[in-house]
Amino acid sequence: MAIKTVGVLGCGLMGSGIAQVCAASGYRTIVREVNDTYIEKGLARIRTFLEDGVAKGKTAADARDRTLDNLSGATTFEALKDCDLIVEAIVENVDEKKQTYQALEKIMSERAIFVSNTSSLCITELAAATRRPDRFGGLHFFNPVPLMKLVEVVRALTTSDETYQTVFAFAKSLGKEPITAPDRPGFIVNRLLVPYLLDAIRAYENGLGTIDDIDAGMKLGCGHPMGPFTLLDFVGLDTTYYIANIMFDEFREPAYAPPPLLKRMVLAGRFGRKSGHGFYKY
Ligand code: CAA
Ligand code: NAD
Repeated sequence: MAIKTVGVLGCGLMGSGIAQVCAASGYRTIVREVNDTYIEKGLARIRTFLEDGVAKGKTAADARDRTLDNLSGATTFEALKDCDLIVEAIVENVDEKKQTYQALEKIMSERAIFVSNTSSLCITELAAATRRPDRFGGLHFFNPVPLMKLVEVVRALTTSDETYQTVFAFAKSLGKEPITAPDRPGFIVNRLLVPYLLDAIRAYENGLGTIDDIDAGMKLGCGHPMGPFTLLDFVGLDTTYYIANIMFDEFREPAYAPPPLLKRMVLAGRFGRKSGHGFYKY
């Protein structure tokens, strides 16, 4: 199936990155947010990334212009009605996602493919909430989307071969390196990454070391690009908390249980870099 027009739901951390790479790869891209303030903020994030890329000599000025030409923002579902593929990147909450799918399916074309960027939810459950379980899959990008090469392609029990192949080819067309991951909470990467991040919080709560020292330990001792607390702030503590709850709910193993400190930081509105305060201040 030929994909020309892509819709992206959500223009937060991930949706803005996904919209940017789709537009940069030549797709007409429409990104939908809940209101003008959020769409403006998301589009501004994309413009800043592109400008920084030009300033660093990584992005050509005409590539920046082409990307912005291919991109538009919207606050209505109707704006996505001609999309061949829609990538959902809204908050990690199963009820919010299902409600949004129902609203969107009223205007989506019958043949359009729907994918979710969920980090941890069951793709088969999300597919079953739509009228197109065969044309639904998981397409899990990594943060920051324009820089991270990996994408996990996830098949629901109901995803057709044609949909899987189209989505896999689409990921490649974005310049990404797709891998196939199972429909299990956290897929491949988060299944390994999330317990590590939660363990870092537990270790800190148990007095293993300071936040700075634990971060420096993993960065300088293991060559990780970011220590666990820098990465937690980068991913978003709210999103990490939602992911941990979903994974714990499914596996019932202590490794996935959100540590008390994480819950309290979310309750206090300390979401990490995006709110200006997490384990560090920004
Ligand atoms: N435009 C184009 N290129 C840019 C750019 C821009 N605006 N900004 C940076 N770059 C390029 C740089 O030029 C550099 O390129 P070279 O390697 O060719 O020199 C490269 O991107 C790295 O940039 P920086 O040197 O400025 O920054 P850095 O070295 O500190 O790397 C990072 C930044 C890539 C984010 C790195 O810190 C990193 O990999 N961090 C870990 C991120 C990670 O683990 N992400 C996964 C999170 S988990 C997830 O996403 C799943 C989930 O469901 C929660
Ligand atoms: P975020 O909080 O930065 O952004 C979510 C955005 O969705 C918000 O701006 C919100 O206004 C918007 N939104 C909510 N309901 C909407 C709707 N009905 N229509 C359009 N927009 C709506 O969150 P994020 O980090 O971008 O995460 C989004 C999704 O991507 C989640 O499912 C998350 O698990 C997944 N994910 C996150 C990361 C990460 O590192 N943060 C990595 C991979 C996948």
